[in-house]
Amino acid sequence: MTRRTRDFAVLVLTTGTVMLALAFTGSLGLIEALTAMFVIGSIAAAYYVGSAAMQVPTAPVPSVEMSGNDQVPIADLLSALPLPAFEVCQDQQRIIAYNQPAAAFLRLGQRRSAPPRASVIIRAPALLTAIETCFNAGAQGAAEIEMEIGPEEQWRAHIRPIRSSGNLLVVLEDLTPVKRAARARADFLANASHELRTPLTAISGFIETMRGPAREDKDSWDRFLGIMAGETERMSRLIADLLSLSRIESAEHVQPTSREYFSDIVLNSVDALQPLAGEKGVELVFDEPAFLPPVTANRDELIQVVENLVSNAIKYSRGGHTITIRCGVAPDGFAARTEAAQVWPESERMTLLQTSNRSAIHDPTVWMRVEDQGPGIEREHLPRLGERFYRADQSRGGKITGTGLGLAIVKHIMAHHRGGFAVETVMGQGSAFGVWLPAAREI
Ligand SMILES: Nc1ncnc2c1ncn2[C@@H]1O[C@H](COP(=O)(O)OP(=O)(O)O)[C@@H](O)[C@H]1O
Ligand SMILES: [Mg+2]
Repeated sequence: MTRRTRDFAVLVLTTGTVMLALAFTGSLGLIEALTAMFVIGSIAAAYYVGSAAMQVPTAPVPSVEMSGNDQVPIADLLSALPLPAFEVCQDQQRIIAYNQPAAAFLRLGQRRSAPPRASVIIRAPALLTAIETCFNAGAQGAAEIEMEIGPEEQWRAHIRPIRSSGNLLVVLEDLTPVKRAARARADFLANASHELRTPLTAISGFIETMRGPAREDKDSWDRFLGIMAGETERMSRLIADLLSLSRIESAEHVQPTSREYFSDIVLNSVDALQPLAGEKGVELVFDEPAFLPPVTANRDELIQVVENLVSNAIKYSRGGHTITIRCGVAPDGFAARTEAAQVWPESERMTLLQTSNRSAIHDPTVWMRVEDQGPGIEREHLPRLGERFYRADQSRGGKITGTGLGLAIVKHIMAHHRGGFAVETVMGQGSAFGVWLPAAREI
């Protein structure tokens, strides 16, 4: 029975009894007694109904109150959390409960006889200070701090008091990927503007010269215009690459759906690049395979992959060199990588992208290898190939121009196709770039 029901019953019964007693003893007429009972009953009913509106439902106050008898045991709660989390008790600030991610973060090894002290285990001084401050502040002691662990890692710690026990709950959040993405975005913008400004500065420099010192020297104009045309072309190539990179990124979550034959795509792209190779006196050889299963792919994107790799090979070859393009099918992703980019016995190798899909890696996989006889790439550059704007040959006097976006585009497209990308190279002998992607499943 609620409090207001009890109040209502007591009021009505008492006044009813009193009025009836007065009526029986004759001190109050029956009509008056019944009227008084009716009035008091109405007031009581008004109270009963009105008080219902005032009863605010008591929502549980959000708190970390978990050590009570009828609450979830803290160890269960911690183990259900996907983030590193642990409980620090007031007594000597020992870590009395923690989950698996926290054990990895704190490097807590095998079971110890006594719970370890926070000051012994935690290596971040900022976190220790914050825990100390929270304990000193008592029930109100909560804090949020960001800390740097090593040159690369960034974490945020949320410290909250556990009301029932007075202990502290510490939850850690890894900010590294967020910060890294922010830095990559800033770098990308800085690089893109720098790359665009370089040709622009050259062009405006020549315009100034042609209007000023070389105004009358019409003979040199031809040369200047030639350079300006080259710079303009470089700018438009850069913009085209930037646009295609952003197009691929915006379609990243749309899975390719059409069935394509990779060897068909390679054949067409190689044909399209024959004139470019011819100009340089480089021979392009496509070793056509007998049969390849289809792949689920975006045709335009795969054309870009082949064109980028083959045009790089042409760019870094000299007259008389041969570029060989091969494709095939392997029983799984690992075998495909071996066929595509682990052929030369003494080469430097680097996998720039590994098939992300764990089940697809065991499927039959179609691969392609573009092999040249160019200068090769120094080992220290290999891990950074595929980074936007990264060019390994910047020091070669800048004779070979490029945007440094080609391999980044290839890497993105192969990731979109759940494929892989790798390189092998021998200095002075050549480089080979390989890509692979799972064959389409039978339907
Ligand atoms: N076949 C190759 N032989 C030698 N170096 C290469 C080859 N392909 C790519 N590279 C190196 O990788 C860098 C990045 O290539 P890419 O992203 O296509 O940019 P770009 O071709 O615009 O310079 C190139 O600047 C070059 O140093
Ligand atoms: Mg390129």
